[in-house]
Amino acid sequence: MALRPILCFPDPKLHKVARPVQQVDERIRSLVADMLETMYAAKGIGLAATQIDVHERVIVIDVSEERNAPLVLINPVLSWTSAERHVNEEGCLSVPGIYDNVERFDAVQVTALDQDGQSRTISADGMLAVCIQHEMDHLLGKVFVEYLSPLKRNRIKTKMLKQQREERD
Ligand code: NI
Repeated sequence: MALRPILCFPDPKLHKVARPVQQVDERIRSLVADMLETMYAAKGIGLAATQIDVHERVIVIDVSEERNAPLVLINPVLSWTSAERHVNEEGCLSVPGIYDNVERFDAVQVTALDQDGQSRTISADGMLAVCIQHEMDHLLGKVFVEYLSPLKRNRIKTKMLKQQREERD
């Protein structure tokens, strides 16, 4: 297992569209292990492969308090979404320190492969439903700040670039 560097907004690589995983093999299991390690080390509740510059449809999530309930979603597809939508405050490991409101479906059903290549369907609501939708957006090259107004997004972009310059110096 290894920690992988996380891409930060506005890195253009965050906008690449991930391709489906052809086969859940040792290479993918090793990627999943690295993603879990990276997510836990960064104290995140979810991570998409896109965020570590791997453009394949793989997501890891853990919304448990105890940080011991990893969920692996490979080639996820939403098979149902609730009529109800709600605004929730979101953050992202690729946009550190920024939290803002995004509207999402209250509940979703997602069908995906696990790290053994088994297909399963998960019903999610609350924070898990939000997290699944946020991470699936990453696989489409979409970062949550893109839901905000252009003014807010530009402010965030400027702030992030400034932070990244300061870290380099
Ligand atoms: Ni994110």
